[in-house]
Amino acid sequence: AIDISTLTRQTGHTALDYGYVNTASTKSAITYIDGEAGILRYRGYPIEQLAAGSTFLEVAYLLIYGELPTADELAAFDAEIRRHTLLHEDMRYYFEGVPHTAHPMAVLSGGLQMLSTYYESSLDTAVPEFVEVNTIRLLAKLPVLAAYAHKKSIGQAFLYPKNELGFVENFLRLNFGNKAEHYDMNPVLVEALDKLLILHADHEQNASTSTVRLVGSTGANMFSSISAGINALSGPLHGGANEAVLDMLAQIRDSGQSVQTFVEKVKRKEDGVKLMGFGHRVYKNYDPRARIVRESADRVLAELGVNDPLLALAQELEQIALEDDYFKERKLYPNVDFYTGVIYKAMGFPTRMFTVLFAIGRLPGWIAQWREAREDAQTKIGRPQQLYIGATERKLER
Ligand code: ACO
Repeated sequence: AIDISTLTRQTGHTALDYGYVNTASTKSAITYIDGEAGILRYRGYPIEQLAAGSTFLEVAYLLIYGELPTADELAAFDAEIRRHTLLHEDMRYYFEGVPHTAHPMAVLSGGLQMLSTYYESSLDTAVPEFVEVNTIRLLAKLPVLAAYAHKKSIGQAFLYPKNELGFVENFLRLNFGNKAEHYDMNPVLVEALDKLLILHADHEQNASTSTVRLVGSTGANMFSSISAGINALSGPLHGGANEAVLDMLAQIRDSGQSVQTFVEKVKRKEDGVKLMGFGHRVYKNYDPRARIVRESADRVLAELGVNDPLLALAQELEQIALEDDYFKERKLYPNVDFYTGVIYKAMGFPTRMFTVLFAIGRLPGWIAQWREAREDAQTKIGRPQQLYIGATERKLER
């Protein structure tokens, strides 16, 4: 890569790069991806090893502080997070105010911004202790906000967090109430959700992370920056794809048409239809996360005794696409989102909660990237150029 960051800006020397496909916006020491080889590493550790041998909180610590925690560091980190799970009681008015039909992603980003109003005195990004406490607040409270967005949408009572429970167990209980006791007894599900959160925890300069960095570059605090990141994640080409995959599978099922017919429609680009959960800006071989999720889907569905016809449909769709020249030539493979929805559905989450689950997973990455940018002396306010193609000067005739 050519580093042009030290050059002073010269008019007439602007590169046009739609979607920033060739432009690095920053240096970063957090996540490494080799899209051709299908490699993803957090702070140097391969994703496969982290998914198999660590927990989400350990990975969050690794991403944010740069090293895996010792047992004592992890215990202290976990205890701090548990201590901060309660939301300000007045947040109930926020939830009362939103309609139950609201999309949980909108409730989540709005709720996070609302939450920041209770901590206004600690939002000064120049004070390191404030950055530390807000890091913990975000990790502790975002899952609670997410669970309440879910409860609101189905008209059920909110539960207070139970801090003797671990991160994932607590979250499942907040979502499923007493039914979740069955989760406490079912380590397969707790482990599966923990693993999914690890797989989503960071992915270098994707659209939502770039948003967090861009908003942060203006000096905005972590709550505002991450609330913006949640909005960026909500789009169907990004995090919203996990919801869109399930909608697509349900549509194929309900239409009565064959999977092959649907694939042909995608290839003709009819009505702009895409195969949701397929393709990736960076991975042009395979998405290493997708492989792990696929195995997880088999295990979770078997454990729950769920025989979901949508899983069979997903497998058939994947098989047909992988053997089709259209997808081969364009190097389109399943991405992390192709199978996550099937798992979340089996766990009992409504489709509209899927991207919210992605947001909880991505939170440590957003925090780590926001903090890295804050500590980097080279960070400048993000301000892309444009090539103006509009009218030349006109005169207002009256
Ligand atoms: N289905 C059908 N065709 C596709 C798909 C798809 N899912 N993805 C890309 N293509 C085609 C494009 O139409 C284009 O075809 P062309 O060369 O004939 O014009 C070609 O493949 C290249 O695609 P681009 O759009 O240039 O690829 P880009 O890197 O800009 O987009 C993206 C990547 C947004 C992920 C895209 O593959 C897509 O829309 N996928 C579906 C949505 C999705 O699953 N998003 C989740 C991404 S992962 C994440 O956020 C966690």
